Amino acid sequence: MEQTENQGGQSGQTDSSRRTFLKQSSALAALAMTPPAALTAVDNGLDERVAAAFERPTFQQMPLQVTINGKVQQLSIEPRVTLLDLLREQLHLTGTKKGCDHGQCGACTVHLDGQRVNACLTLALTTEGSEVTTIEGLADGDRLHPMQEAFIKHDGFQCGYCTPGQIMSAVACIREGHADNPDQIREYMSGNICRCGAYANIVEAIMDVKEGGKKV
Ligand code: FES
Ligand code: FES
Repeated sequence: MEQTENQGGQSGQTDSSRRTFLKQSSALAALAMTPPAALTAVDNGLDERVAAAFERPTFQQMPLQVTINGKVQQLSIEPRVTLLDLLREQLHLTGTKKGCDHGQCGACTVHLDGQRVNACLTLALTTEGSEVTTIEGLADGDRLHPMQEAFIKHDGFQCGYCTPGQIMSAVACIREGHADNPDQIREYMSGNICRCGAYANIVEAIMDVKEGGKKV
């Protein structure tokens, strides 16, 4: 009798361990499939709308209204879609680049309500009612933005892949008041990686715009 109970106890423990393992592995699999933007949102305390969307059994399309480069967009998206993927895949604004997709390189930098953000770490749903500016929205028609002109003048790029993100960050850097000298520029541009190493020319371009006093 005692033996049977022990056997039953061991079996119960095994079932329980199995269940725990299955739960943990399912949770890990779910985490592996979750975009970094969603994990960041969780870390930051999810926006209620996004939290509600993630509680649904399947990823359903949700409405989103956001102004992008001055144009109001009425969209329908899955809650897991990042701003970067929305821009590139759905709106075909491919000027914003996908480098690391994990918030490490700055290639995806855009302005959200005037602040620079990594679009790969921003869930599109959280931009409801906001204004987004991408590199495509920086020029005034055919006239380039002063920062775009300065990058050309100072040869602030080689392959150009990081350049849209660098330019969006550079504009924000001046607007934030973080471009008083080369050291400060280097510090506040440090989130934008350039694999071609065009850093010296990028700093010169930013200093040129700052010293020129042009409105950015
Ligand atoms: Fe967003 Fe690298 S693609 S930081
Ligand atoms: Fe090539 Fe910066 S210009 S990565």
